Amino acid sequence: MRVPRGGDGSRAIVPEPMEVTRENAWATLTRYTKSEALLRHALAVEAGVRAYGHKLGEDEELWSAVALLHDFDYEIHPTLDQHPQDGASILREEGWPEEVVESVLSHAEHLARPRDTPLKRTLFACDELSGFIHACGLVRPDGIDSLEPKSVRKKLKQPSFAAGVHRDEVYQGAELIGVDLDEHIAFLIAALRPIARDLGLRTTADATAAT
Ligand SMILES: [Fe+2]
Ligand SMILES: [Fe+2]
Repeated sequence: MRVPRGGDGSRAIVPEPMEVTRENAWATLTRYTKSEALLRHALAVEAGVRAYGHKLGEDEELWSAVALLHDFDYEIHPTLDQHPQDGASILREEGWPEEVVESVLSHAEHLARPRDTPLKRTLFACDELSGFIHACGLVRPDGIDSLEPKSVRKKLKQPSFAAGVHRDEVYQGAELIGVDLDEHIAFLIAALRPIARDLGLRTTADATAAT
């Protein structure tokens, strides 16, 4: 922390700017989040958002950091009258730049903030769907290794499956980034496969061993 003196001699606490890296985002996230399910959600959303960032030639560290941080305060602020808006002040106190804070805030439907950058749109498009793909993988013997968009779409039409996932946000998200839903699903499945173990999913090797 720097404590500069104002012209009137008053002291204001101004945090040192936080360098936007995946590592720093992970440190902030894990300072406030202990739940394995929430950490897995953060990792899944990050994998999707970062893969899109890579595809679009964007700043992957920034995209990773925002994705990891988007629900960082959910454990301490589990209701929408606090999440994520009260988390924003914590991020500012930690020195995260406004671009990160604004991007985090933009994922929340109830705040109705503009999704006016590719990063904000991509975060929204990956948030619910990565959770849904994860849920699909949990009920399959080989996780998401052989999962195809067709079966994900079928499950999306079953309201009782992963009932907490807002279907309308899944459809809106694909539309928002201008990607066909099947393509978007396939892209996210491919992004999540390399981290299947970290997400607690089985893989083809488990399915083979079980037969
Ligand atoms: Fe959230
Ligand atoms: Fe989320």
